Amino acid sequence: MKLAMIVNGAAVERDISPDTTLVDFLRRELKLAGTKKGCGIGECGACTVILNGDAVNSCLVLAAQCQGAVVYTVESLEQDGVPDPLQRSFVEHHALQCGYCTAGMLMSAKALLMRNPNPSEEEILSAISGNLCRCTGYQTITRAIRQAGEAYQ
Ligand code: FES
Ligand code: FES
Repeated sequence: MKLAMIVNGAAVERDISPDTTLVDFLRRELKLAGTKKGCGIGECGACTVILNGDAVNSCLVLAAQCQGAVVYTVESLEQDGVPDPLQRSFVEHHALQCGYCTAGMLMSAKALLMRNPNPSEEEILSAISGNLCRCTGYQTITRAIRQAGEAYQ
């Protein structure tokens, strides 16, 4: 089937198999490998992208469901070599170690800050509740998200 959508601000069109998941479409067809595939069953959040404004697990979405959709991946955060405030804040707060969860964390946080640039601790924890990190604990991540929010206000 033919699939057309907007990814990171650019129109894309591909012929795909109807059973292709969004994460595989992004990684394999579009070569946007920043989005990670961890569990593949909606448990880890590593594959989180923003779909029509909401953070979603792209392993649970069929690409065919995204006809005409607007998708942002972690590659969208850096613009002309300038990192997003979230990326800078994650580095400043040492909010990553192995980095496997980081793309998903960033996109869950981005979706939150676009809606609410001044989130409470509870709101941050709720936004990243589907994102598992086995390395850092969550304190540095929540601190990084809260500080990045100041740049979105
Ligand atoms: S790979 Fe999608 S939630 Fe784990
Ligand atoms: S930094 Fe390793 S899983 Fe989060």
